[in-house]
Amino acid sequence: MTSQDEFGGAWTQQKLGALGKYLQAYTTIFKRNPRAQFYSISYVDAFAGTGTLQRPELGRLADLIPEFEPPFDEYVFIEKSAAKCRELRAIAAGQPPRNIKNLNEDANSAILKWCKSFDAGRQRAVVFLDPFGASVKWEVIAALGRTHAVDLWVLFPYSAINRMLVRDRKPPEPWARRLTAVFGTREWEKAFYSTSAFPSLLDSTQRVELIHKSADYPDITDFFIARLKNEFKAVSKPLPLYNSNGSLLFMFFFAAGNKRSAKTGLTIANSIIGGCPSRLRVPRFCAFLRETVHSGMFPCFFAGFLSRFVPSISSA
Ligand SMILES: C[S@@+](CC[C@H](N)C(=O)[O-])C[C@H]1O[C@@H](n2cnc3c(N)ncnc32)[C@H](O)[C@@H]1O
Repeated sequence: MTSQDEFGGAWTQQKLGALGKYLQAYTTIFKRNPRAQFYSISYVDAFAGTGTLQRPELGRLADLIPEFEPPFDEYVFIEKSAAKCRELRAIAAGQPPRNIKNLNEDANSAILKWCKSFDAGRQRAVVFLDPFGASVKWEVIAALGRTHAVDLWVLFPYSAINRMLVRDRKPPEPWARRLTAVFGTREWEKAFYSTSAFPSLLDSTQRVELIHKSADYPDITDFFIARLKNEFKAVSKPLPLYNSNGSLLFMFFFAAGNKRSAKTGLTIANSIIGGCPSRLRVPRFCAFLRETVHSGMFPCFFAGFLSRFVPSISSA
């Protein structure tokens, strides 16, 4: 047993399953295609954990190392926790010999350094950004995009972001700074919040302004997609990942940085995402209902729903 904190669920399996299929397609293309063989290919897991999960039925990340045949030329595992990194090294030592680098560092600074030493003339890479929460800085995603040679799989922490986007006022400044670091711009304020102004009840010469969150999940997701599209040549549709209660936790995205291979990468990624088991419809509906109740819109939604079947409600 390892010290990996227990996390995840079916969504963890879905995420690793989608990534695993892409990595397998990637090594096959690069090692079997004579023109692509020119490049040395790396796999970078920037929030690597220990390589195992406490619940074995969910699968083991360690299997990613030996699984791919043909393999990557280089594997880079970045993990901030020294204890987890030691376990990761022990797991890697028990695998077939591979060129594996285990870096006990902060993922944001390690990736920025890695991008600086990356030779886009000779190298291609798949980078997996798999944080628990909102800890990936936008500058890291932008630096990966600027290599024009990286295929990115990134977990967008929808639930953590949505919690920081409080409803009836702008987020407190520490959260606002965190949101700006995640999106790489303060424009989220304009995109996610609206102001309503009306005369004061006490003094009609005065106007009262109310700020409220106007963005829901498609707006937040679309904003992140637009940000990704600024840096990458192509961005996949999202793979939404829900917990067992039907709450949307993460959106998983693929983004292709290289102009020549973007179309192929996108086709493969979209077909993997489209083929993911869609036990998501019911949780999605539950999440929608919960959001509707939470926002106070439930009576309107319910009346609207009933009015389709009982015409007298709409005319009442
Ligand atoms: C969601 S887990 C990812 C686990 C792994 N990718 C998997 O699917 O099994 C996040 C991991 O990132 C590590 N971590 C958190 N913040 C980090 C940071 N700033 N830099 C590097 N690793 C970090 C945590 O210790 C944790 O092991």
